Amino acid sequence: MQIPFSTQILNWYRQNARQLPWRGHPDPYAIWISEIMLQQTRVETVIPYFQRWLARFPSIFELAAAPQQEVLNLWEGLGYYARARNLHRAAQIIVTEHQGKLPQTAAELQKLPGIGRYTAGAIASIAFGADEAALDGNIRRVLARVFDVTQPARSTEGEHLLWQLAEENLPAGAAGEYNQALMDLGATICMPSSPDCAQCPVASHCQARTLGVQEERPVSQPKASIPHYTVAAAIIRQNGTVFIAQRPQKGLLGGLWEFPGGKTEPGESLPTCLQREICEELNAEIRVGAPFGIYEHAFTHFRVTLHAFECQLNEGNTLTAHEHEAICWVKLAELDDYPMGKIDRQIAQRLQKEQV
Ligand code: ADE
Repeated sequence: MQIPFSTQILNWYRQNARQLPWRGHPDPYAIWISEIMLQQTRVETVIPYFQRWLARFPSIFELAAAPQQEVLNLWEGLGYYARARNLHRAAQIIVTEHQGKLPQTAAELQKLPGIGRYTAGAIASIAFGADEAALDGNIRRVLARVFDVTQPARSTEGEHLLWQLAEENLPAGAAGEYNQALMDLGATICMPSSPDCAQCPVASHCQARTLGVQEERPVSQPKASIPHYTVAAAIIRQNGTVFIAQRPQKGLLGGLWEFPGGKTEPGESLPTCLQREICEELNAEIRVGAPFGIYEHAFTHFRVTLHAFECQLNEGNTLTAHEHEAICWVKLAELDDYPMGKIDRQIAQRLQKEQV
């Protein structure tokens, strides 16, 4: 008789689990932080961030008490900044409403900001030993191959079926290990392309392999083409300082600092766009001077090409915040204290480099 799929993968995991800093960690807080950081982010990228975070915020109490700026600073470079803002808000809720203790069930965890079905299942199973499934990108791929799921993995039907398979095969009492075993298998053997089926502990269960279609699973949804925006930003200097503004809390890069500007409208020149944006957002007239570099960045749903320009305020004009959370004139050496997205940080670093 064949050894069940879950037994086989658990046996493999007990011999081959990756050594990761949050594994075997006694503190549910650390597991929670790791799971939020690991959303859409690779393990190797997360490790140094996780270690710095726990050194600075060793418990939920330090996190809840920290200023948002410090939380975003520590997160800078990990992307998807809503994750950091939600972690911070959730820590404050846990301190005020749960005496600083993370709720233990997936249903209660899902009530907190930033915790969806996947993260709730991962935390409840790994930190509290609950019999909960979890479905991330790696687990989706492994299950779609083992059970030869022909529906697109991200379609409503495919998603439903994959959750059902994750739950049906869950070994009672060992869900945390099972979930992490599937994650590790997906990360190290059952990779998106050229999976190493010869090394796979569950190859004998793998229906896609039997059919020779493992590289065609999971089936992906046709992707909508992603838009591209041309954006202009202003470098405005005054007495050894430069002007930056804090983006509104809600929306893209919320709470982060930027060199002000915005998207060009169809047919609009870059200088005209900058003058319009600075007038609309900061109620001031500017002159647009020399270019200060072209910067590219790909977000999840669009791409940006940003053109920066040295600018001057016209006589008698002052910059005032209309849409921004806050505004500030900062010495170049102090720009590091202000959390920023990738492009704005590149501009800040070039300003600092060219000063010395
Ligand atoms: N990805 C998300 N959660 C993970 C975990 N606990 N271990 C390894 N990879 C992961």
